Amino acid sequence: MDSNIQSVGVLTSGGDAPGMNAAIRAVTRAGIFNGMRVYGIYRGFKGLICNEIEEFKTNSVSNIIQQGGTMLKTARSLEFMTVEGRKLAYENMQKHGIEALVVIGGDGSLTGAGIFANEFNIPVVGLPGTIDNDLNGTDTTIGYDTALNTIMQSMDKIRDTATSHERLFFVEVMGRNCGYLALNSAIASGAEAAIIPEISIEKDQLGELIEQGFRKSKNSSMVLVTESEVTGGAIKLAERVKTEYPQYDVRVSILGHLQRGGSPTAQDRILASRMGIAAIQALLENQRNVMIGIRENEIDYVPFKRAIKKDREISEELLEVLRISSI
Ligand code: F6P
Repeated sequence: MDSNIQSVGVLTSGGDAPGMNAAIRAVTRAGIFNGMRVYGIYRGFKGLICNEIEEFKTNSVSNIIQQGGTMLKTARSLEFMTVEGRKLAYENMQKHGIEALVVIGGDGSLTGAGIFANEFNIPVVGLPGTIDNDLNGTDTTIGYDTALNTIMQSMDKIRDTATSHERLFFVEVMGRNCGYLALNSAIASGAEAAIIPEISIEKDQLGELIEQGFRKSKNSSMVLVTESEVTGGAIKLAERVKTEYPQYDVRVSILGHLQRGGSPTAQDRILASRMGIAAIQALLENQRNVMIGIRENEIDYVPFKRAIKKDREISEELLEVLRISSI
């Protein structure tokens, strides 16, 4: 049965990701196209609590598809984790007559969105907006491809200096508890290895690499490391190599927040546009508590519970590609 939703709010929450603007644009335009009133909510759930809400017209989202970051701003709201905070948020939705929400963010944002939706019986649809690519039920997330390309370009530059000085570089990338950024950027940049949280502990991975003689006949090496308690991070790994293998001239590069910025790639803009339009379609189809995913290039509705389950497996095939291509 189709729904009769007349108005929808859109917000971005958690860490920003390139392509979020393209998603805001698509949600806004699809909402208006389907006869809805669309409200932009600033600063994520924080803005919903503080009533930072504005009705959007089609030109409110003009000229943003190419911009990184999020024009709606984003925040991680502690107040929204309390019942009182969520009650204020609900009251502000009622004040504006907002009947449904589209939440663009990562696992923390979708978790909060799910709780809010159940508590107040609100139709909420999520879009996976995170560079980490750590959500279940979708092959990729908005911002991941741009971040991957940013890392690859940085790695190409690091390789120049690594080769000139014949050094071993540990390059730390984001991803939290998910190794996809490290693994795929290692493949794309021709790195020797990726130390990622999904595979045993740091000690085993590093020990194994060294035992196999990862420098082999090459005059320089680059190892990608996911920032995570499990891997220990690049600094810790480099310290260990310096002590145990002083023959290596080791350096560390932590790419940090530059991975989150920049103009989105074509792939992220297209993904965000498709997902934004699918979010409105999902609301019209009476879907709720689902994240829009993409599997084998087809849009899919993924229940929040499955999307945020922290058990995304790393691809064995990609691990094999890295293992073989780096010999
Ligand atoms: O979730 C996106 C992410 O960039 C993670 O990869 C990283 O661990 C975290 O956010 C950094 O958060 P902040 O910007 O709050 O330091």
